Amino acid sequence: MKPLEILQQKQQQALKGGGEHRIESQHKKGKLTARERISLLMDEGSFEEIGMFVAHRSKDFGMENEVYLGDGVVTGYGTVNGRLTYVFSQDFTVFGGSLSETHAEKICKIMDLALQNGAPLIGLNDSGGARIQEGVVSLGGYADIFHRNVKASGVIPQLSAIMGPCAGGAVYSPAITDFISMVEHTSYMFVTGPNVVKTVTHETVSSEELGGAATHASRSGVTHFTNPNEVACIDHLKKLLSYIPQNCEDDAPVYPYEAGEEYRAKLDAIIPENPNQPYDIKEVIEEVVDAGTFLEVHKDYAENIVVGFSLIGGRSVGVVANQPASMAGVLDINSSKKAARFVRFCDAFNIPLLVLVDVPGFLPGTDQEWNGIITNGAKLLYALSEATVPKVTVITRKAYGGAYDVMNSKHIGADLNYAWPSAEIAVMGAKGAAEIIFKNEIAAVADKEAKWKEKEMEYMEKFANPYGAAARGFIDEVIVPGATRSKLIRAFAMLENKVVSTPRRKHGNIPL
Ligand code: COA
Repeated sequence: MKPLEILQQKQQQALKGGGEHRIESQHKKGKLTARERISLLMDEGSFEEIGMFVAHRSKDFGMENEVYLGDGVVTGYGTVNGRLTYVFSQDFTVFGGSLSETHAEKICKIMDLALQNGAPLIGLNDSGGARIQEGVVSLGGYADIFHRNVKASGVIPQLSAIMGPCAGGAVYSPAITDFISMVEHTSYMFVTGPNVVKTVTHETVSSEELGGAATHASRSGVTHFTNPNEVACIDHLKKLLSYIPQNCEDDAPVYPYEAGEEYRAKLDAIIPENPNQPYDIKEVIEEVVDAGTFLEVHKDYAENIVVGFSLIGGRSVGVVANQPASMAGVLDINSSKKAARFVRFCDAFNIPLLVLVDVPGFLPGTDQEWNGIITNGAKLLYALSEATVPKVTVITRKAYGGAYDVMNSKHIGADLNYAWPSAEIAVMGAKGAAEIIFKNEIAAVADKEAKWKEKEMEYMEKFANPYGAAARGFIDEVIVPGATRSKLIRAFAMLENKVVSTPRRKHGNIPL
């Protein structure tokens, strides 16, 4: 054969992965192949493959007779919506996408390139775990990847899609990345599978229940997104990337924006008359961000706080908002962790933050105290205090107790703090406050109930408003709710060139 024919033959061989019958079986499971996924992800014709002819070096268990070019992972670079992006895509048709020494080397090569050239890395995971025939070199390969994931953390965005099995040590690479996206019913993640669980704890549980997309979206919070199928998952990754800069030195994306009528009259009537009645903060978010741009993160996890990306006047902005429609918007362990993580991502990648506040305080109870609400609540306080990106706060209703401080108060470095006229900024709710500070007065009269009510009203009149905070400059302006959007567009434009210098240190010590 001529040299060119040899090359073409090898290319053909590599493109077939583990062979036609295995590709067919992959399709039968409702899954795409590694290459089909890449062609959906990357702009047409932009993908450049690296390492197509890499083959494993294993000689044990008859492996020398079973060699597939590419060794179970397709790696390379291309563009996504015109922006340079690196990708690895595990090929389940080759030894179940299992990770060999050479498979890991290919991933590491791509990771090094992504880090050195400052562009996002996307991992499409579909793997039976460590290549069982290879032993410790495979385990070493995982650690090489983990180490790079950590080095790249906060430098380039790292996104993981789980599109098949992801078990054992394999879970820890996605776990270190910034976002995980799973496909419903065809993907699962766990440290130990149902069989080991049965042996060790005698629990009977299916793969889906133990580590399927729904479980990780709602119970563990391991995954940030779930998708009905692989095509939707890849589309979603592309959308997510559109809010994120290329690397930590890059500015957050700004898209062309044409100013229009920004007043949102709906917001003037959104707060119920009864302060204990819930409303949906997502309706507020939809009114203040550019139409249809809110991309929610961790939608089904810790629903008492809402986080996600949006555009405001064309600028990418991360939104953190208490959700009065879920547990009255109280802060608890999970919501604090969820929001803290999101805030740290935005801060690492220069994405400004909008914080909408309607919080009655921290959730009381033994469950919360014994599971560490102190340490976990501190995560959000730490993350927002540490963030140096532009930070704007709008208090829509309640801002009580320590939660007032935590939710991007002026005191922890917010740049602009707005409040609606309905804001209540106080140490605690009027009822509880009256009970404590007017205890003796209430005890001294016959009609205790009437006195209590009177004192409650007195406390409410004094504190259930934003004017005390505005008088001290803790609130910069009390605004008409309908004008919030135009205020925010101007505020984020004004803060565009914000520079903060911080003391030199190796790294902070966030309470983990
Ligand atoms: N190492 C080497 N080969 C592996 C492998 C691994 N870790 N995992 C799967 N494979 C191979 C299988 O031998 C099979 O090869 P074949 O196509 O030549 O028959 C192919 O990948 C597909 O695996 P199969 O078991 O038929 O697919 P499945 O969809 O029924 O099950 C798994 C998928 C992942 C649940 C199953 O393969 C499995 O349990 N793998 C081992 C997981 C593990 O313990 N990994 C090591 C610890 S991290």
